[in-house]
Amino acid sequence: MQGPVAASPRPRRVFVLGATGTIGSATVRALVARGHEVVCLVRPRAGVGGRLGAQDSARLLPGAALRLGDAGDPASLSRDGFRGERFDALVSCLASRSGAPADAWAVDHRAHVHALRAAREAGAAQVVLLSALCVQKPRLAFQHAKLAFEQALIGSGVDYSIVRPTAFFKSLSGQVERVRQGKPFLLFGDGRLTACKPVSDDDLAAYLAGCLDDPQRRNRVLPIGGPGPAVTPREQGEELFRLLGRPPRFRRVPVALLDAIIGGLSAAGRVLPSAAAKAELARIGRYYATESMLLLDPGTGRYDAAATPETGRETLFDFYARLVRGDEALPQRGDHAVF
Ligand SMILES: NC(=O)c1ccc[n+]([C@@H]2O[C@H](COP(=O)([O-])OP(=O)(O)OC[C@H]3O[C@@H](n4cnc5c(N)ncnc54)[C@H](OP(=O)(O)O)[C@@H]3O)[C@@H](O)[C@H]2O)c1
Repeated sequence: MQGPVAASPRPRRVFVLGATGTIGSATVRALVARGHEVVCLVRPRAGVGGRLGAQDSARLLPGAALRLGDAGDPASLSRDGFRGERFDALVSCLASRSGAPADAWAVDHRAHVHALRAAREAGAAQVVLLSALCVQKPRLAFQHAKLAFEQALIGSGVDYSIVRPTAFFKSLSGQVERVRQGKPFLLFGDGRLTACKPVSDDDLAAYLAGCLDDPQRRNRVLPIGGPGPAVTPREQGEELFRLLGRPPRFRRVPVALLDAIIGGLSAAGRVLPSAAAKAELARIGRYYATESMLLLDPGTGRYDAAATPETGRETLFDFYARLVRGDEALPQRGDHAVF
């Protein structure tokens, strides 16, 4: 939880997309706390699996004005969202919930292209975009979709802050429950193939909100992690067992197994669309099993923990401690539960 925050020196009228998501809802809290006037376009059924009705979304986003509509539909974006009014900035945490190729291109690219146009028509001079650090090594459809919009934004002439965070706490909490139930922690390889500097929802939200006021974050692509040091999956497992007061138990999963699954699903995917979709999800899983969420040094092709910028103070291990004590509920991971 964040302490009191300083008000923005220049409160603005901000249009927010993706407000019902994990980072979007935290970002709305951060914007409201800084004194901005926040207007969000949310779907009538929002949240993981459409579990949030309009009243639930309103409870999730206190202090913000809610408008019901569909950011994926350009007509709704203008009619229900911007409504011909003036805004100073667009902040977008909108992202495909599945990462499946068609959805990623529809949401991470096309919806953003329309939103950028509508925001400019509304007079917005600044755009803050939640992207992802993994686009620095694009291998997956959703990464290409994100990059395509990043390029469109950079080329648009509007002031931008493209924020590329490392891993979120929710994506690193998928094994808390199985370990609590006495099962081993699953590792790819020896559990040291990758590392990341996890960033909390509120720390990332504060960073995103701060982009509106910090000239150093303007017209820049901003890789960002939480407070270091970088942690490996093995260290995550060790900490969980320590917090539970149990001896560590790991089960190693060979990366080759994922390759075999991807191969099988891709072959089946030539005739079965559902298998093709699963193959892409398996490719996403393999990517995160083998690529670090740290800054990539283009010269060496290596990930560089020390060079990965940091923000905030909340650590993943503080979060694990709260989960284990029961002070915090396990985050809803929805479609991302696959990785
Ligand atoms: N997970 C990680 O560790 C990690 C790390 C770095 C970067 N990232 C990036 O962070 C982003 C995900 O952030 P998050 O976890 O906060 O997202 P999230 O919880 O999945 O929320 C996504 C938001 O986008 C909205 N949305 C999705 N599809 C939509 C559609 N078709 N039409 C209208 N709205 C739609 C959702 O609205 P509804 O509530 O109506 O569905 C929700 O508000 C992605 O870009 C990801 O690449 C993730």
